Amino acid sequence: MDLADLFPRIEDVPEKHDIAPLHQRHYLCGGELKPWNGPAEEVCSPVCMRNGKTLEPRVIGSFPSCTEKESMEALDAAVLAYNSGRGQWPTMAVEERIRCVQAFADRMKEKREEVIRLLMWEIGKSHADSAKEFDRTVAYIVDTIDALKELDRVSSRFTITEGIVAQIRRAPLGVVLCMGPFNYPLNETFTTLIPALIMGNSLILKPPRFGVLLYEPLLTAFRDSFPPGVINVIYGDGATVVTPLMKSGRIDVLAFIGSHRVADILKTQHPKPHRLRCALGMGAKNPAILLPDADLDLAVRETITGSLSFNGQRCTALKIIFVHRDIADDYLKRYCAALDSLKAGMPWEEGVSITPLPEPGKTGYLAGLVADAVEQGAKIANGAGGTFAGTLFRPAALYPVNETMRVYHEEQFGPVVPIVPFDDIEDPIEYVIGSFFGQQLSIFGRDSDTMARLIDPLVNQVCRVNINSQCQRGPDTFPFGGRKDSAEGTLSVTDALRVFSIRAVVAAKGGELNNDIIRDIVRNRKSNFLSTDFIL
Ligand code: G3H
Repeated sequence: MDLADLFPRIEDVPEKHDIAPLHQRHYLCGGELKPWNGPAEEVCSPVCMRNGKTLEPRVIGSFPSCTEKESMEALDAAVLAYNSGRGQWPTMAVEERIRCVQAFADRMKEKREEVIRLLMWEIGKSHADSAKEFDRTVAYIVDTIDALKELDRVSSRFTITEGIVAQIRRAPLGVVLCMGPFNYPLNETFTTLIPALIMGNSLILKPPRFGVLLYEPLLTAFRDSFPPGVINVIYGDGATVVTPLMKSGRIDVLAFIGSHRVADILKTQHPKPHRLRCALGMGAKNPAILLPDADLDLAVRETITGSLSFNGQRCTALKIIFVHRDIADDYLKRYCAALDSLKAGMPWEEGVSITPLPEPGKTGYLAGLVADAVEQGAKIANGAGGTFAGTLFRPAALYPVNETMRVYHEEQFGPVVPIVPFDDIEDPIEYVIGSFFGQQLSIFGRDSDTMARLIDPLVNQVCRVNINSQCQRGPDTFPFGGRKDSAEGTLSVTDALRVFSIRAVVAAKGGELNNDIIRDIVRNRKSNFLSTDFIL
């Protein structure tokens, strides 16, 4: 079937999944939804509409193109809410902050269907994966609350060392700028936003390039669940609204998931870089390494989902596959058969895997990668691979790929899969060592001696080695990090609570006066920090 025919005519869109345009004319600042009368940016869905022979973009809404003025207004609101650590939010008891986040989660759940619909239309994610992203995010909030309760319980006692009595707890850092990626616009943003908030920081959220409108249904819940200014949401062109924030020097923490190029720009804009703390998730080119004794059924299953779920648009996707020459032909045949059975179509279709790509010009870029590889001697191993229509790109498995080809080095972030044959295990190891990235990798094989010999050096190159399993971030309680250009800092449910806070100590040399003061403060619950309250 012609790929273009997979796009619906407007009258063919199932009513249940159709979308009414959402023209957002407000932004959240200082506890108010402020009206916006300035220019707006149109949102075009990657899900094009077929009109006769042509594919037309469909406008599904628009959002404010804020300027430096609104951005600084949001910053002032966040700075005021934090109030040098004296604000209501940073001084609030942990239990009360937890109540606010729980109230937000309850309100958020009411918006499930709206957010899922927007995820499908804004970034082309399948209904099943969009639902998974929403539910995983709610689960992340619940897990974060549980982790903070546990952290607080551990901190709710005094310690006495060398005659000094002390209480040690984690305190917030200040104002956080939070920016997530377009491929997980809700989930990955929330994996920094929620821990940053719950630890007592105030926050400015700038939604990603695509996946902007899905925040609109959540704005009133943000407004009503937290004190004014604790969370502010601004919209618009990144360079226009984010640059002044960074240059102001009043951002204490940058939580950014995106490219290392943009991360570098943002960091260097801060006038006092040593003051800026960063939680960065950046690029990756995770390899799979298939050893000669690999279980091929298993390897095919894992490398297909590893390389192509959400069209390969995951930072953790397998972006290059090294296969031992002895099994290369067999693997290739099976991989291509599995690839060809993936269903391409619209996000709402049952069982769909390959869906429209949200980045403008992406299909052209991917076709360029394929053409370059073919020119240098690779073949498209699956027949119709690499063809495209509008925003839909049929996945292409390229073989044999080598270091002369762009796709060997570039992070394709899309449905093009370079497959590299090797004779000597040193080849993939050298690739990992020479790579600018250092997030994860997968090894497929059966022999435990060989595996062990590979694991020991490779854990010093990446942050997760997966055995006979695809690369992935989850479970979210596991540490998620990267070396080299892949990440700064480690996130997990518990790690993130640490990333967005600092240990602070209240200490007193023992003696009658100090003991009386501490006893009185604790017994009469005069302080939220100096407290032995135990959260149940
Ligand atoms: O885009 C990167 C995400 O963190 C990947 O998460 O491995 O659970 O799909 P995932």
